[in-house]
Amino acid sequence: VSVKRAEIRAPAVRRRRGELRVALLGFGHVGRAFARGLLGPYREALASRKLRLRVVGVATRVHGAAVDARGLDLTQCLARVEAGGCLASLHRGAPLPSALAFVRSVPADVLVELTSLDPLRGEPATTHLRAALSRGLHVVTANKGPVAFAWSELKRLARRHRCELLHEGAVMDGTPVFNLVSRCLPGCRILGFRGTLNSTSSHVLTRMEEGASLEAAVREAQAAGIAEADPRADLSGWDSAVKGCTLANVLMGATVRPREVRRRGIVRIQPETVRSAIERGRRIRLVVRGSRLGRRIRVRVAPEEIPLGDPLSTRGSDAALILQTDLMGEIGVYERGGNVEQAAYAIFSDLATLASLGAITGRGWPRSREAT
Ligand SMILES: NC(=O)c1ccc[n+]([C@@H]2O[C@H](COP(=O)([O-])OP(=O)(O)OC[C@H]3O[C@@H](n4cnc5c(N)ncnc54)[C@H](OP(=O)(O)O)[C@@H]3O)[C@@H](O)[C@H]2O)c1
Repeated sequence: VSVKRAEIRAPAVRRRRGELRVALLGFGHVGRAFARGLLGPYREALASRKLRLRVVGVATRVHGAAVDARGLDLTQCLARVEAGGCLASLHRGAPLPSALAFVRSVPADVLVELTSLDPLRGEPATTHLRAALSRGLHVVTANKGPVAFAWSELKRLARRHRCELLHEGAVMDGTPVFNLVSRCLPGCRILGFRGTLNSTSSHVLTRMEEGASLEAAVREAQAAGIAEADPRADLSGWDSAVKGCTLANVLMGATVRPREVRRRGIVRIQPETVRSAIERGRRIRLVVRGSRLGRRIRVRVAPEEIPLGDPLSTRGSDAALILQTDLMGEIGVYERGGNVEQAAYAIFSDLATLASLGAITGRGWPRSREAT
């Protein structure tokens, strides 16, 4: 224990006991919902865990970036970005020419990566994560791109630098999926999975069952903040393919890339087809499946007719996942009405995990070279 303690360097800006310094890269729907949570509903939960979070940096693409080692005023950050303004006047320190410069210099213990999903390459998020882990920052992300594209490499990097890489929000927002398997199913192998995991597609199909057009339903999903920055990623099945790879890679030890997924989306589905399925007691839903075929693990995405009453016959933006295990048979998790607050909770939950790991190992927070 004494050796581990000796490794912790004293910070120049004094940290209070139990305080975690957080840098937010991405301040869109999820980042802002998380910030609003910190200002309101998370307060009590943080206090009860004796955990203090200090947001020392926020970076965006077009709204600039701000770093302040003493802690940023989140109310001001929210007001500026929500009014379409810029964060630059809140910045204290050397100029930040890029998001990567932010990651490399922000005086934080943990990088929370919340930039938009790039379903084709997982970039630049993967580069951000590499840079953060390489300098000894823990990483929390809801961006499934890096997990789908570079999971084993990033995990190795995290291990080498003795950091945590947590990503509960990558699939089903804050609903425990990765935590469920890692904490509650000791010794279980995941043999396969099936799920309706794309809230936008499920919302659109539900609204089409009710007579709305696909375009109108997509606009509703965008207004609710649940659609990807480009909703074609949702409707064409890319988002589900990336989630399928994330599940297969983390839970089944696969190395599947989204391009290898056999994928069909819901773009061409006609309203008559959706309504006729309902009349026959079935629902069309975009289903992602992962299965083992000998030593290979295969992920597929396609619309399927699901009998009403089946756990996957979700409504609205609900999401459902069934895991097939060797020791526990089939188990399922269900998220009612997925929304950005639930996505933001995933960040809170990962940070709380980080805090408890720090407490359990007694090693405190990582020693990032620049984080002084
Ligand atoms: N929305 C949900 O319900 C939900 C649920 C689970 C997971 N997720 C995942 O969480 C992540 C964030 O989602 P979101 O809905 O918050 O997205 P969003 O509203 O599109 O916000 C993305 C944020 O990232 C910033 N950004 C994008 N590219 C950047 C870059 N190259 N460098 C620096 N900043 C960059 C944007 O900056 P500007 O503001 O300047 O454009 C914006 O602040 C995504 O990966 C998404 O897949 C979202």
